[in-house]
Amino acid sequence: MDINAIQKVYRRYAQGYDIYFGALLQPGRKAIIEKMHCRSGDRILEVGVGTGLSLPLYPRGVHVTGIDISREMLARAHARTIRLHLDHVMVLRLMDAEFLQFPDNSFDKVVAMYVVSVAPHPARLVSEMRRVCRPGGELFIVNHFQHTNPVVGGLERLFAPLSRLMGFHPDFSLENFLRESGLDVAERTPVNALGYWTLLRACNGKTAVRLGASRTVAT
Ligand SMILES: C[S@@+](CC[C@H](N)C(=O)[O-])C[C@H]1O[C@@H](n2cnc3c(N)ncnc32)[C@H](O)[C@@H]1O
Repeated sequence: MDINAIQKVYRRYAQGYDIYFGALLQPGRKAIIEKMHCRSGDRILEVGVGTGLSLPLYPRGVHVTGIDISREMLARAHARTIRLHLDHVMVLRLMDAEFLQFPDNSFDKVVAMYVVSVAPHPARLVSEMRRVCRPGGELFIVNHFQHTNPVVGGLERLFAPLSRLMGFHPDFSLENFLRESGLDVAERTPVNALGYWTLLRACNGKTAVRLGASRTVAT
């Protein structure tokens, strides 16, 4: 999916997103924030923050920046921040996670919840997550990856042509993702119903470089 297709799908999803994907995916959001062991003053970037379902889960005292490519999803995150007085949410910005407009080493922890199988170039997204995370910081990802069971994996492949409609790739391969992104994974944990989704924690030990030229975001 290209950026325009993503914006179109999530424009359509935005209104009902919390009903479809709120409770269903919330255990994974809680688990990833627990794994982050947030400390007061931590600078956290959440890419693809969506409607901000994770935002109330962060402990007060951290500084959260959220970005998303969908104006409609981000508007809901903004409304939630105001409604719930989430003072730890410092910034919510319309931005492409594959071309982050932050200097190198700006954050202690960078997190992507249910985003890597949506973004057009997951390896580029991870490269940008690494670039803006300080050396020695941590990266966190929760996502569905193609099931290793051949029957379930086969079904997911069947649905793959509908990815533009669904807004994510159901046959997203963990092995390919790890190989292409070069993530230094320290921990893998199954989360959500039947452990169908996977939480990854990775150390940002290596120097990442910005890949390619910039892209203009349609607003
Ligand atoms: C499945 S939703 C997940 C939203 C949220 N993280 C959650 O836990 O519900 C995927 C989100 O990623 C965003 N997204 C996809 N590609 C993106 C990109 N390149 N840059 C920024 N946001 C992106 C979409 O707009 C959408 O809001």
